[in-house]
Amino acid sequence: MSGRLRELPSYRRLPFRVTGGRGPWLQTDRGPVLDLYGGHCVNTLGLGDPGVGAALARQWEELSFVSNALEHGGRATLLAALEPSLPPGAWQVFATNSGAEANENLLKAAVAATGRPAVAVFDGAFHGRTAGVACLSSRAGAVTPRSPWGVRRLPFGEAAAAAELDEEVACVLLEPVQSLAGVREAPRDFLEALREACDRSGAWLLFDEVQTGNGRLGASWAAQALGVVPDAFATAKGVAGGLPLGLSFFREPAASAFDPGLLGSTFGGAPLALAAAAEVARRVHRPAFLEAVRSLSARLQELLAGLPGVRALRGRGLLLGVELEPPLRAPVLRDALLEAGVLAGTTWDPAVLRLMPPLDLPGEALEPLERAWTAAVSALSSAPPAPIR
Ligand SMILES: Cc1ncc(COP(=O)(O)O)c(C=O)c1O
Repeated sequence: MSGRLRELPSYRRLPFRVTGGRGPWLQTDRGPVLDLYGGHCVNTLGLGDPGVGAALARQWEELSFVSNALEHGGRATLLAALEPSLPPGAWQVFATNSGAEANENLLKAAVAATGRPAVAVFDGAFHGRTAGVACLSSRAGAVTPRSPWGVRRLPFGEAAAAAELDEEVACVLLEPVQSLAGVREAPRDFLEALREACDRSGAWLLFDEVQTGNGRLGASWAAQALGVVPDAFATAKGVAGGLPLGLSFFREPAASAFDPGLLGSTFGGAPLALAAAAEVARRVHRPAFLEAVRSLSARLQELLAGLPGVRALRGRGLLLGVELEPPLRAPVLRDALLEAGVLAGTTWDPAVLRLMPPLDLPGEALEPLERAWTAAVSALSSAPPAPIR
């Protein structure tokens, strides 16, 4: 290579090279690493899951790709796998490729259906990088200068914010557990106040379930985990366990309140992604599987609560935030954990480390986590303070 073509440096990469992976383990040039980051919530069933691999191989053999102009059995198979997981009501779903698109489609539909100009979001919002959702982000560097919609920004978690939803507001979009913003769970009274205000004002209540969905909270969707049903929600990331897929779900009457011709995509709902998603859905949305997620979450939280440097825990299911005792900082601890063979995530809050492992993480993985954590914290407490990054 002459070096004439380089990748845009959008991402700051961690200092090791991945050579393979199976289940919750990454093989790297530094040895095995326990992956508690899960590809940022993508690897619902870990790396290289044989069931997903077999579904993909079958699908490729049977039908690799057709456009959305043609019917094929894969769509009905996915709908059948997802239907039992949904909260009460009649639903329609639209497939696309990513979380940003799935969220943006919710907004487009709500604005079209209500004829209103504004969307309401919350501090701590992150809903993706396309122009129509980047404008909603609370992170300055990610925000696009112009927005296709008026943006109202409200305080997250405060039930009184619901009073701001007037007849200008088409919809209110939130992550039921704000992940990047520091694993902040929406309180029940806040969600209920938003639900009531939307019912009163005619705005749509929209959940961004790009991270929280697909069993991650120990229930199929946030509606079941947190007890409030939205008018529509979007998911992506873990829905197909490693294949690009975004889904926008619309509940009646919202589903019938806009022209479905507003939405379209060449690759959205491609056979391979649908086959992977059907395999994930069939396995994840079983009561016994979800119960196992909750019980692993309880074991993990019990372990974490007893580890040095842990001040408090946030989140639920297998989307957990570990609030650290000062002066411990998440980016520094993340690097030290990596040295000790465990990959975790940071958040926008330097006091909070994030864990979102595969949902079928074996209980035995807690032991290497405990060892690595203890070694990392003890190395940091005996080392001179590292610079905060
Ligand atoms: C909550 C949330 N919404 C939306 C997105 C965007 O998803 P994608 O990168 O698939 O467009 C992300 C990605 O990190 C996310 O965390």
